[in-house]
Amino acid sequence: MRKTRVIAIANQKGGVGKTTTVVNLAAALSELGKTVLVIDLDPQANATSGLGLPRQSGVSLYPVLTGAADVADIIQPTPYENINIIPAELDLAGAEIEIARQPNHLGVVRGVLDRVLDADVFDYVLMDCPPSLGILMTSSLAAADGIVVTMQCEYYAMEGLSVITSIIRQMHDNGANPGLKLEGILMTMYDGRTRLAAEVVDEVRAHFGDIVYQTVIPRNVRISEAPSFGKPVVFYDPASRGAMAYRSFAQEFAQKTASAYTPAAPEPPPEQTEKVTEPAGPEETANP
Ligand SMILES: Nc1ncnc2c1ncn2[C@@H]1O[C@H](COP(=O)(O)OP(=O)(O)OP(=O)(O)O)[C@@H](O)[C@H]1O
Ligand SMILES: [Mg+2]
Repeated sequence: MRKTRVIAIANQKGGVGKTTTVVNLAAALSELGKTVLVIDLDPQANATSGLGLPRQSGVSLYPVLTGAADVADIIQPTPYENINIIPAELDLAGAEIEIARQPNHLGVVRGVLDRVLDADVFDYVLMDCPPSLGILMTSSLAAADGIVVTMQCEYYAMEGLSVITSIIRQMHDNGANPGLKLEGILMTMYDGRTRLAAEVVDEVRAHFGDIVYQTVIPRNVRISEAPSFGKPVVFYDPASRGAMAYRSFAQEFAQKTASAYTPAAPEPPPEQTEKVTEPAGPEETANP
């Protein structure tokens, strides 16, 4: 089984912490020794600049999708060890039309990713989705193993999640991506001073249970400052509450993805089962 997990961070709502989560999850995973490829799918290129890279004309997924460039030549190093990126730039907006022209448009991103996946050098591919439901976004979801939805701790947070769940169902039903799963829901911009934030988190947990990550990302001014320095908050202010929250999220995320995609361990042979279930001998109970 390949080791690379392809995760899209998505929500068609704007400004709910998708890019912040991609950039900081990548940073915190790299601290855990994981290798990460970020794919910036938003022509606004916020993930690109948030990881300290300038927008460069011609350096995005766009020329790869048209066959004008090789994906290996487009993958860029970032200032951070273990984090690489396929950047975005404004031209990427044109990719929508380009993909629409291709016969199997749901499969085009998968086609590009296959080369990356064959190499199996990355632990994670994190895709930063734009706040829209265009063809680029849906063909990216068709290429993903899982989706992480970020939600702001505000009223109507859950509105729109039904859109994501129906896309997942469609991908299953039309065979475009039968394995796609809702990996988890991350609550962001939690303001501990308001009752509203706590109520929203409770309500989302009541609806979605364990799919909601235990970690909740607080509203934190250091998080909002970091992008103007072209740095994830995890590196910009490692001791800030925002950085610590994203580190804790990365731990949880890594554990969950590891268990979700690892095949169940084979049943132990019968004699071994007996041994395990045998009551503890007196020497063991006498000496805890
Ligand atoms: N936990 C947080 N605390 C404070 N500010 C935050 C937090 N998370 C995100 N922000 C800020 O909120 C704004 C929106 O966040 P972000 O860009 O991550 O959302 P997005 O979902 O990617 O938006 P878009 O849909 O436009 O791509 C940014 O200015 C970001 O710096
Ligand atoms: Mg964004």
